[in-house]
Amino acid sequence: MPQTVKGVIARAKGAEVELVDIVVPDPGPGEAVVKIDACGVCHTDLHYREGGIGDNFPYLLGHEAAGVVESVGAGVTDVAPGDFVILNWRAVCGQCRACRRGRPWYCFDTHNAEQKMTLDDGTELSPALGIGAFAGKTLVHAGQCTKVEPGVPASVAGLLGCGVMAGLGAAINTGGVGRGDTVAVIGCGGVGAAAIAGAHLAGARRIIAVDIDARKLDKANELGATHTVNGAREDVVEMVKALTDGFGADVVIDAVGRPETWKQAFYARDLAGTVVLVGVPTPEMKVEVPLIDVFGHGGSLKSSWYGDCLPSRDFPMLVDLYLQGRLPLDAFVTETIAIGDVEAAFDKMHSGDVLRSVVVL
Ligand SMILES: NC(=O)c1ccc[n+]([C@@H]2O[C@H](COP(=O)([O-])OP(=O)(O)OC[C@H]3O[C@@H](n4cnc5c(N)ncnc54)[C@H](O)[C@@H]3O)[C@@H](O)[C@H]2O)c1
Ligand SMILES: [Zn+2]
Ligand SMILES: [Zn+2]
Repeated sequence: MPQTVKGVIARAKGAEVELVDIVVPDPGPGEAVVKIDACGVCHTDLHYREGGIGDNFPYLLGHEAAGVVESVGAGVTDVAPGDFVILNWRAVCGQCRACRRGRPWYCFDTHNAEQKMTLDDGTELSPALGIGAFAGKTLVHAGQCTKVEPGVPASVAGLLGCGVMAGLGAAINTGGVGRGDTVAVIGCGGVGAAAIAGAHLAGARRIIAVDIDARKLDKANELGATHTVNGAREDVVEMVKALTDGFGADVVIDAVGRPETWKQAFYARDLAGTVVLVGVPTPEMKVEVPLIDVFGHGGSLKSSWYGDCLPSRDFPMLVDLYLQGRLPLDAFVTETIAIGDVEAAFDKMHSGDVLRSVVVL
């Protein structure tokens, strides 16, 4: 029987979000219904509400979630009712050209549920990133459920489903940060702060946090930054160079995603260094740099989609590190909120008051 639960939707571009009844169908072949325990508020939810990602309103928001599998459809063998899972938006297909090249973390044809959740009048919902987890329950493809140790609080586990994974992975997977490297991270919100924690975990010897908000720099220090630069007052490129013996950092991560921050990243890295763009730019943004500087600096200019993660490989590993006290994921949860408070959480995101607000159900 389809079930009716509460869910947070964005009905139209720019309109405030609404808490409404949504209808969740029984899982079909390959699908699962998950009871949501917690779901973080990510900047991408706000991008959806503002129409920055698509025009398929109404959107069912929320995509950084953990919960318990309630029921599964025909043919599902990897997860079963009662499993504690983190939801992912990279259910790898195994068949596309990226998967066939042995690079499944780029999978170009990830799975989502085929059936649609709806409003009670039958209007089909577009779940954010194929998840839609600001809701009592959600319908996903079973491959979007990654089983992890149940010892981790859901409010913390859910963060690995998006922003924190994107940041950790930008450092560890995309940037390839290793022991002894110097790293700079521009923008220390949820994603950038996670990149700092990732660089720390990987053994970077110098980790320079850059933000224009001093509160974010304090948090960055807690998570392993060895130096901070206030981009509102200091010359970022000069400061990063001064802190790396005049050369620049081995890996610079842009967790803002604007032309000026990407250029800072480009010029603040050492020769043959790596730039990682993990912040998401908007379509009108452009950068202009002399081609000779691209050649002359060498190294690599990379983008990081979802931290180049493989959920089945990375989520259980990161949960284990958390349970051993080696990954301070609790530090990312600034506040837990009720499902009716998502709009207020967007305001706090704008004013820079929080790293993550997490809806607890
Ligand atoms: N690539 C991916 O897979 C992926 C996944 C999740 C989120 N994201 C993106 O990552 C970005 C960051 O997300 P978030 O949740 O951390 O956002 P956030 O709003 O919490 O953090 C952004 C931070 O950047 C700082 N900032 C803004 N302008 C700056 C500047 N000029 N110089 C230095 N710092 C500056 C802000 O003070 C803030 O601390 C967003 O664009 C988001 O959409 C990407
Ligand atoms: Zn694939
Ligand atoms: Zn997200």
